[in-house]
Amino acid sequence: MKVLIVGSGGREHAIAMSVKKSSQVEKIYCAPGNAGIGEIATCVPIGAMEFEKIRDFAKEEGIDFVIVGMDDPLVGGLVDVLEAAGIKTFGPRKNAAILEGSKAFSKDLMKKYGIPTAAYENFDDAKKAAAYLETAKYPIVLKADGLALGKGVLICNTKEEALEGVKSIMEDKKFGSAGNNMVIEEFMTGREVSVLSYCDGKTIKTMTSAQDHKRAKDGDQGLNTGGMGTFSPSPFYTEEVDAFCKANIYQKTVDAMAAEGRTFKGIIFFGLMLTPDGPKVLEYNARFGDPEAQVVLPRMKNDIIEVMQACVDGTLDQVDLQFEDNAAVCVILASDGYPEHYEKGKAISGLEAFDDKDDYFCFHAGTKKEDGIFYTNGGRVLGVTAKGADLKEARKKAYEATEWISFENKYKRNDIGKAIDEA
Ligand code: AMP
Ligand code: GLY
Repeated sequence: MKVLIVGSGGREHAIAMSVKKSSQVEKIYCAPGNAGIGEIATCVPIGAMEFEKIRDFAKEEGIDFVIVGMDDPLVGGLVDVLEAAGIKTFGPRKNAAILEGSKAFSKDLMKKYGIPTAAYENFDDAKKAAAYLETAKYPIVLKADGLALGKGVLICNTKEEALEGVKSIMEDKKFGSAGNNMVIEEFMTGREVSVLSYCDGKTIKTMTSAQDHKRAKDGDQGLNTGGMGTFSPSPFYTEEVDAFCKANIYQKTVDAMAAEGRTFKGIIFFGLMLTPDGPKVLEYNARFGDPEAQVVLPRMKNDIIEVMQACVDGTLDQVDLQFEDNAAVCVILASDGYPEHYEKGKAISGLEAFDDKDDYFCFHAGTKKEDGIFYTNGGRVLGVTAKGADLKEARKKAYEATEWISFENKYKRNDIGKAIDEA
């Protein structure tokens, strides 16, 4: 079969590598892809938001199955456009992707169905939000309602900071129309865990857990980024936590979406916080995490196409989802200055070191290739990943492998997986 993947990051490279292992797949396309994906797939120069062009390409090329990796096209309704043209597609429809697309929607859903999350209020008016802040407890958390590249969350220690935050989100529109509405919620403490799952609308099967590192600098300092590194599994995601989440969060979310007439098929990513009062949902995403996919997918034993088709067909209950009993660590190699100002177009060397190794992976995020040479082409450049018997071994191997790669202005965090030592 012919598969088309929509997206261009390290996550889509990880998806493409899993798809390549499927015995059913003869050809992979990616729109728009990147230079690393181009080594195993045919990249087509169509943007992820060019829905009609994607649909027409899929029709002309006889694509059998489309996998939408990114949030924007899911929230914008690409799956609906493809399905209407009779193209089998993995990912939630627009009315279900709202689970990620609107934080106000997801908070209201959790409240209505008794799913544990931080206490909150929604606002569509800056004056009302400011009035609420007069009597609120601090610190407090402000969230732009819509998609904001993971940056629309402000943690405010004082009323003054919070008032400034409301102004920047709702009046100055720092995150654009994502800030037309806003959630103000209680500040929670605890460890964060990402749990990704496959859903077919009725059945949900969770994958192995992971933890991201969102801040740019060591010691969780610096600005929020798309993610600077991950490890999987999380040693803090115990059997007890898993049992609690199975009873109170996962199936309840799928059932709630179905009850609302928003049947969810695809990936639900649960961003959890393990608070002193038990696990609570920080956020939902409607897709694989980036760079969570880079540590979760290399450990998945199943044929990814079979699992994804079961999600679309509603037969996920028949799938025995299995992960390797090992660990993986991903360290992002970024361009110095990310997520603010950084240079592009630096030649990358050392990539061939990954070619003949089964438990090392170099997932491309922001790269391009010209005349046989790879160049940096974004803030996050590569996701260097290694598998090991346990987390410590995986971390040691991943950091060793980061030394195989050279490019000017190469930047990485040096403490990805440090929490492993505290487990
Ligand atoms: P989100 O995009 O909702 O996951 O928020 C981004 C990050 O902000 C999370 O990964 C947390 O580190 C932090 N955060 C979000 N909501 C809260 C909260 N209620 N209390 C404490 N930290 C939060
Ligand atoms: N790594 C966090 C995300 O993909 O949202």
